[in-house]
Order: sequence, then structure tokens, then C-alpha cells
Amino acid sequence: MNTAYRAIGIDSIGVYVPRLYVDLTAEWAKVRAPVLTRGDVDKLVGKVVDGVGVRRMAVVDAHQDCATLAAMAAKRVIDASGIDPRDIDYLAVGTETTVDQSKSMAAYVLGMLERHYGVSLAEVGAPQFQFACIGATYALESAVSRIRAGDNTKPYSLVIASDVSKYPLRTAGEYTQGAGAVALLICENPRVLVLERGLSATVTRDERDFFRPNGQSSAVVDGKYSIDVYLDCMEAALDAYAKRVESAIGVGADRLYEAIDAFCFHVPFPRMAEYASARVLGRLWSSSPEARARLVAEGASAEGMPRKDFERALAKTALFRSAFDQKVAPSLALAREVGNIYSGALYLGLVSFLEETRSERLAGRRIFLGSYGSGASAKVLSGLVAEPYRSLVDGLRIRDDLRPAAEGGLRTPLSVAEYERLHELSDRERGISVHAPRREFALERLGTSDSPERTDVGYRYYGWVDG
Ligand SMILES: CC(C)(COP(=O)(O)OP(=O)(O)OC[C@H]1O[C@@H](n2cnc3c(N)ncnc32)[C@H](O)[C@@H]1OP(=O)(O)O)[C@@H](O)C(=O)NCCC(=O)NCCS
Repeated sequence: MNTAYRAIGIDSIGVYVPRLYVDLTAEWAKVRAPVLTRGDVDKLVGKVVDGVGVRRMAVVDAHQDCATLAAMAAKRVIDASGIDPRDIDYLAVGTETTVDQSKSMAAYVLGMLERHYGVSLAEVGAPQFQFACIGATYALESAVSRIRAGDNTKPYSLVIASDVSKYPLRTAGEYTQGAGAVALLICENPRVLVLERGLSATVTRDERDFFRPNGQSSAVVDGKYSIDVYLDCMEAALDAYAKRVESAIGVGADRLYEAIDAFCFHVPFPRMAEYASARVLGRLWSSSPEARARLVAEGASAEGMPRKDFERALAKTALFRSAFDQKVAPSLALAREVGNIYSGALYLGLVSFLEETRSERLAGRRIFLGSYGSGASAKVLSGLVAEPYRSLVDGLRIRDDLRPAAEGGLRTPLSVAEYERLHELSDRERGISVHAPRREFALERLGTSDSPERTDVGYRYYGWVDG
């Protein structure tokens, strides 16, 4: 079989965001202002909404964790695409928060899907990829490579990114939490995005910007440093990607900006995508004399200016603002409502872009995917929007569903007391849910047996609850 020119990529996408959320502009801001902004509530709201870019953050209920979120996203993509789950032969999960120190979270998800659909998935490979927020991109790469190599025996692979992002209460990380999962159905001749063969580049550096030591449920993060490492790794991956594009399709760095119609970045918080855009677009424009001249005319000259100052000046230019509004901003709408979902954040950005531009015709356009995981690795890849992608977009109503129930959506706001109770629940207890599970996968109980007949202390039992 000639495998050289097969179109492989994303056929459908399922998103699941837990319904509970904290409104960062309401009670939370009043309670936190004394600790974070010396009592100035407006300053805290301004910082979170305008400076960081997020309004609401999704929170998991007591019966939810990243395995149930992953299974919900998987169910959504299976049901929406109408495939038979027995046509899946690989189920890879990317997660950095996981539910077990040994067992692959994909095996838990596989079990939930088997019991729910009444099928056997016994011959399905089910690995977990862990590398901070980039794990799902490594999972995607492996799924695509298997199909390209002809190693699959069934048409579909499922790649799921799922995380619950948690930082200690009352810290600068707290307002960049979130929770959610994105499931990508991967196959040949995909209906949404054809990943461009050979057009991807990876960079890895041994870094300490963000980590979560064994036994700890919150991450340790050197916030400002993590931004610098993200930008440096993304830039290095971009340079490597640009070289590949030039040799594969003859588009030089000076023309690369025009050849890309949308930039989706890893979004730990929406403002980060603006910093990444300044770095990436600044880099691309540096190869174009015309763009350089326009920037200089607008007060942003790379020569003689420290890099940070140059990027701040660049971010204020009309050239940047219009490029950002058109090619980046649509990817950030969902993140403002959800917060950081770690491994799924890039793919939530892709869905956001497709949903926000639903009135445009994107078929054939090139989308840049800039993936990043602390610790640290960046990957740049690109895809061409497939002709039938509208079949997915027409069915999307994620932004509407993310409105509070009182405004016609599906979400329930939490009081600070309820949120803090859920935040402080340990992984080793199943607390009381705010909403009893209903028509969803749920953590039903934790094992307690420790006898010669059966040992399951701490084992997580999941099931579908009709409610
Ligand atoms: C992201 C993080 C470092 C931000 O921390 P912070 O203490 O809130 O950061 P800052 O004080 O720099 O404020 C953030 C922005 O808000 C701006 N800001 C502050 N107050 C503001 C206000 N009232 N109105 C508008 N903007 C405001 C700041 O100027 C800054 O923007 P700038 O970079 O353009 O100067 C912190 O939330 C964190 O550690 N998050 C987790 C780690 C993470 O997500 N890393 C990303 C890489 S993976």
C-alpha cells in the first residue's frame, strides 16, 4: 500500500466542560481582593478579566474527575459522528492531572465506554501520554503515525485531552484554573482538519517552570518564568517549522504569515495567546521588509529595543491588532469562559475558532497549531480545513451551553464556600456532589477492601448514571 499521500487528521471533535463554575468578577473577587490586591476589588477584576483574560472558571463536582470528563467528551464525539465504537482501535489519552499513578487513564475510559455501549474494546490499545499540557499532542502524533504506517486494523483512533487544573487557593495561579476535556476522532479522509504531513516541528528542554511532585494535587509553578519558557520554546519550534515548510512546499519565512489563516496556541489563559502571538508574528514579520517598515512606522523597532519592550510595542500596533483580531482572537472565546484545561486547551481553542467563524468559509485554509507543555516541550504543526467541516460546525453550540442556566445555558455558579469545599477534597475521598450525577459518567465509589480475597483500597469505580 502506498502510504505517502494519505490525508489523515481530525474527523470530529467532542467537548465536555463540567457545569459548575466560579464567576471571577463576583463574590470570588470580593473575597480574594484583600489577599491579592489589598482590598481593591475593581483592580482584581480588571487584572483577571483584562490582564489575564478569563471571566469564569469551570470546576468539577465531587463525582467528576479527569477520567469522567474524558469519557463524556468521548461519548459526545462518538454519538455526534454516529460511528460504531467497535470501529475504534486505539484510544490514547493526554493528561497531566490523571487519576492514578500507575494505571493508564485511557483504560478507565475504555471500561466506561464498554459498559455504556455494551461492546468489547478488548483489542484496543489504550496508552496515557503525560508531558504537562502537551501530552495530548504527542498522543495525536502517535495516533496519526499509526494510521499512516498502516498499523491500524479499524478506521478510527480516539485521542482525548482531559485535565482538572488546580493551584493553591489565594495565589496568582488560582484564577487560571479550569476543567474540561476534548476528544478528537482521527481517521483517513477526515471531515474537519487534514494534518499536513511532514509539517511539524518539536523542541524539548529540561526545565523547572511548572511541575507537580508525586503526592501533591496542586501544581508548583514559577508563573512569570513559565511564560518565558513557553515563548522561547514556541519560537524555537516555529523556526524549525518554518524551515520544514520552506523545503516541503517552497513557502519562505517572509511569506509564511500570509500562508497561515489562523493561529491556535496552547491557552493556559487567554492573555498568554496574545504574548505568543507577539512572539510568533513578530518573528514571521521580521523576515518581511514590508512588515518591518510598517512596524517601525508604528513605533515598534526590533533594533535597539529590549525584546520585551519591542513585543509590548508591537502588540499595540494596528498591524498586530488587526492580525490578532482576525487570525487569533476567535480561538480564545471559550477559554474566557472555562479557564485552563491544560492538555485540551489548544484543542478547545481550535473548536472555539471554528465556532466563532461559523459564518465564514474556511475550507482549504491553513490552521497553525502551537502546542506547549511545561517542563518543557513545544510542537508546531498545521492542518488544512477539510471541505465537509461545516457538518461539525453547524452542530456546535458550546458557547451557548456555557451561559449560566439563568441565561439559557447549562451552567451553575458556585458560592466561594462551595468552591473551596470542592477544591480541598482529596483524591482519596468521594465527597458530596453539588448536583447529584444525572445522565453522565460518574465516580461511584472508591475501593476499601483489603483482604486475601480482594484488594482494591483506593481503586476508582466508575459508571454511567441515568439519574
Ligand atoms: C499567569 C500568571 C503568571 C499571572 O500572574 P499575575 O501575578 O496575575 O501577573 P501580572 O501581575 O503580571 O498581571 C498579568 C497582566 O495583567 C495586567 N494587569 C494587572 N492589573 C490590571 C488591571 N487592573 N487591569 C488591566 N490589566 C491589569 C498586568 O499588567 C499584566 O499584563 P502585562 O503582561 O501586559 O503587563 C499567574 O496567574 C500564574 O502563575 N498562572 C499559572 C501559570 C501559567 O499559567 N503559566 C503559563 C505558561 S504554561
